Amino acid sequence: MSNLFQNDLYTLDSLKPSLIYLIFKQAESLRKSSPTSLLKILRGKLAALLFYEPSSRTFSSFSSAMKRLGGQTIEYQNPLQTSSAVKGETIEDSAIVFSNYVDAIIVRHPETGTVKRMADIVSIPVINAGDGIGEHPTQALLDLYTIWRKHKSLDNLKGLMAGDLKNGRTIHSLLKGLSKFKSNTVYLLSPKELKLSEKDKKEYRDQGVTLIEITSSSEIPADCHYWYWTRVQKERFDDVKEYEKLKLRFILNKKLVNEKAGEKTLLMHPLPRVGEIAVDVDSDPRATYLDEQLKNGMYIRMALLKMILSK
Ligand code: CP
Repeated sequence: MSNLFQNDLYTLDSLKPSLIYLIFKQAESLRKSSPTSLLKILRGKLAALLFYEPSSRTFSSFSSAMKRLGGQTIEYQNPLQTSSAVKGETIEDSAIVFSNYVDAIIVRHPETGTVKRMADIVSIPVINAGDGIGEHPTQALLDLYTIWRKHKSLDNLKGLMAGDLKNGRTIHSLLKGLSKFKSNTVYLLSPKELKLSEKDKKEYRDQGVTLIEITSSSEIPADCHYWYWTRVQKERFDDVKEYEKLKLRFILNKKLVNEKAGEKTLLMHPLPRVGEIAVDVDSDPRATYLDEQLKNGMYIRMALLKMILSK
């Protein structure tokens, strides 16, 4: 199955809907398999996790996915302090070094484009675990999978994305993913300073998704299939005062859910949250960010690792 991929996964660009559905099918099959049978799938395989930016979910779900499939990992959280990067080793040299020891490299990096630079220089698969404000393709796949499991389709959906649409790589990748399917409409709610860039809007619209910008939560339409809330990305601001001004402009709380969410509206967030979802929403049966969405991340990453690494 590995030949379905072009080896690397640093963008969603090359993934056709048929392949995305195949990844979902694989994830469904893996979640039903016994833990013992899973352990045979990647026995003898090794992946390096190089996370140049902090992570809880992506790091631990990739690590867990690899190990649940019987593979092993070399793990660097913060290689800028713990690897020879501290002595000045270039990212290209690091990629070459690790490619001599492992079967795949999984990278998070603050600079957009770095994962591609690494992928271009080595022959083993390189997977993008988030690059700057660029893309986070495996997050988009788990988000699409979460929506698909609930609504049984990725066509004709009406959704809301809220928060930091300018800097949020999960937003960029999910919009890219949704634009591959038919007749999707996304309402965009953000402070004007954090709107999706004109370039990004043009790109997604050209790919077929309908984008409607709104400025107030009172304009959220009825019966959305999902609300995708995001945090304002402090680490992308030069001026902390500007961040403080914008960080809690839009808050998802019980009152808003009661007023505006539909019976089947999935309440999603890639996490971490830093105040923009009130804890009183957590117990709502439509809230998926603290259980299903997290678990789906692990199953999607298991599916990807199996498809990329098993022969
Ligand atoms: N969703 C996500 O990317 O979370 P982490 O930054 O914790 O990996």
